[in-house]
Amino acid sequence: MAKYQAPKGTFDILPRSISPIAWQSSSIWSNVEEVLKRLCHHYGIEELRLPVFENTELFQKGTGESSDVVQKEMYTFTDKGKRSQTLRPEGTPGSLRALIESGAFNSFSMQKIFYLGPMFRYERPQMGRYRQFNQFGVEILGPRSPWLDAECICLGSDILKALGLSKFKLLINTLASQECRQGYKKLLQEYFGDHLSVLSEDSQRRLTTNPLRILDSKDAGDQSLIAQAPKLRDHLDSSSSEFFEGVLEYLKELNISYSIDDKLVRGFDYYCDTVFEWQVESIGAQSAIGGGGRYGKLLSDMGGPTLEGVGFAMGMERLIQATLACNQQLEQTPRIEALFVAIGKECAKKLFTLAHEARSCGLCIETWPLHDPKKLKNALSYGDKIGAKSVIILGENELSNNQATYRHMQGGEEKKVSLQELSSFLKSQSEKN
Ligand code: HAM
Repeated sequence: MAKYQAPKGTFDILPRSISPIAWQSSSIWSNVEEVLKRLCHHYGIEELRLPVFENTELFQKGTGESSDVVQKEMYTFTDKGKRSQTLRPEGTPGSLRALIESGAFNSFSMQKIFYLGPMFRYERPQMGRYRQFNQFGVEILGPRSPWLDAECICLGSDILKALGLSKFKLLINTLASQECRQGYKKLLQEYFGDHLSVLSEDSQRRLTTNPLRILDSKDAGDQSLIAQAPKLRDHLDSSSSEFFEGVLEYLKELNISYSIDDKLVRGFDYYCDTVFEWQVESIGAQSAIGGGGRYGKLLSDMGGPTLEGVGFAMGMERLIQATLACNQQLEQTPRIEALFVAIGKECAKKLFTLAHEARSCGLCIETWPLHDPKKLKNALSYGDKIGAKSVIILGENELSNNQATYRHMQGGEEKKVSLQELSSFLKSQSEKN
């Protein structure tokens, strides 16, 4: 066992050649990130890079005091200046803080951003659930329009399709306006209050703090009560109902299939109106691959203009695990064109410059840094291991003839190539296959 190990709930993303677990290989992460960035570009969404820690108050006020994340899961510490800081558990409050602080709304009344990076939550780790995990998130700040909710959902669905994930479920619900939800919360408190003794401990606690969250309780005992509970959709005011219908109409225009799920309430205090989640079965218990919704007042509560926001985030680990489960082809790293091996000190110096020249021509070149003739066998077996297509060997005889030996790894055939033409020769080989 290694002397030092990664902390519980964390993992390394390793070079493909040494990663024993496919989803932890850095090349697949880069490929998926490229797809995400390309699609964001198509939607006119620009990248925002944020600090990984913020003042604790930002999450207490932004994510919300009654959320599980703030109550139980934050990595909070006091820094040497005696400030309370928190490793970001999610990207929404930080994004809004950055946009307001940068004066983004002084000249534009709409902002569309995405972010990619690590988030931290003190959760019980299991497959698909980590303490340090990565999110790809999108936030759109602008006027209150169902168009933007539909556009977010459409982007998320496009992403899943681009990664070859065809079997996903989109769940959608409305949490209505704050005023409308207030009345509904009272109804829920009355209903669940009448069955208090049967409710799980967690749900009893939520009855006063956030009765809506009882609806997504996983407790078996709570389930039958939840099935009979009053539904928010039966108590919508006309503006909330119209808005939700508007979102669904846009989705229908694009034939995006969805299921309305009255129990989908999501975990943060800032949501109102539309909430949604994508689920896939291929990743086991943690089937929620991403989710989001509309937040009506968060921007103005944080000191920004009276615009609304809508956004979502996807868990990169779950996204990659699901992608690999149905599309093994995604991992395409450029093959190493040649391993350069020198025998003798003079040859090493010459080959060092030749390797640089070949790389400048856009070729993918590996080098063997020793020039001991007795180690040639080791060099060749290294070339085999890293999957190099060929080996270039430069020994003293070759150098005096101004040539190198080219050996094709698979067929084993060899030929001499002039040093002046080495890069162009390798280039032509790379274009052949
Ligand atoms: P969330 O549902 O908490 O939403 O997280 C979004 C996604 O992050 C989840 O669907 C899941 O894939 C992934 N995720 C969450 N926790 C973990 C974990 N412990 N380990 C691995 N993956 C995890 C948000 O964070 C909101 N900020 C989304 C949003 C943006 N809403 C509006 N704008």
